[in-house]
Amino acid sequence: MTPPLRCLLTAGPTREHLDPVRFLSNGSSGKMGYALAAAAAARGWHVDLVSGPVALAAPPGVAVHRVVSAAEMLAACEPHFPACDLFIAVAAVADYRPREISGRKEKKKGGPVTLELVPTVDILRTLAARKSPRQTVVGFAAETHDVEAYALRKLTEKNLDWIVANDVSRPDVGMNADDNTVLLLGAVGARHAFGPAPKPAAAAFILDHIAAARAGSA
Ligand code: CTP
Repeated sequence: MTPPLRCLLTAGPTREHLDPVRFLSNGSSGKMGYALAAAAAARGWHVDLVSGPVALAAPPGVAVHRVVSAAEMLAACEPHFPACDLFIAVAAVADYRPREISGRKEKKKGGPVTLELVPTVDILRTLAARKSPRQTVVGFAAETHDVEAYALRKLTEKNLDWIVANDVSRPDVGMNADDNTVLLLGAVGARHAFGPAPKPAAAAFILDHIAAARAGSA
């Protein structure tokens, strides 16, 4: 019998603190990543989910590792990446962090304030660069315009096998909504569209295609 697939996912937003009470982040709910983790566990796969701060419970059978910042998210993924068969980066990672982090709550100043920001680590790009031929790496592309073109660019530039393109210009689907429209693009030219549909159905659609492609190449 073949052992169950090992699946590693990231989900939710990350936070980059300015001081103990303030942070930069985004409105990701984590619903899509948690739906994918739940769907993977329901297939009997071994699932590790590295999650930013969200208001969601751990799906049954999923090992959830909770983190706050991008650096913590990468550090939590690293021990699990070498053994995983499938890595799916769903997290909406904050792209910048303040250069300075104050250990104490900053007091309000009279006039305008300028924040100096530096890039955070790209978790997906870092791990995809270490990918072995037996590993499948999947990214998400949240775009408001030129969705397919930008997604295809990320697929190539980040060394991915698949990318899920999300149009986040519509409030009723995508980030923080219950439904999602999915355009699944493969490195070897596959193109599969789905939705709008509830995120659990979108998750099943994505896993079906990725598992079928792995089985075909096995
Ligand atoms: N990602 C990541 N680490 C980052 C930024 C993004 O792992 N620091 C991953 C996301 O989880 C997603 C993919 O990269 O799977 C694309 O994320 P997205 O925010 O759409 O793109 P960016 O690479 O941040 O580029 P841009 O914001 O310019 O569109």
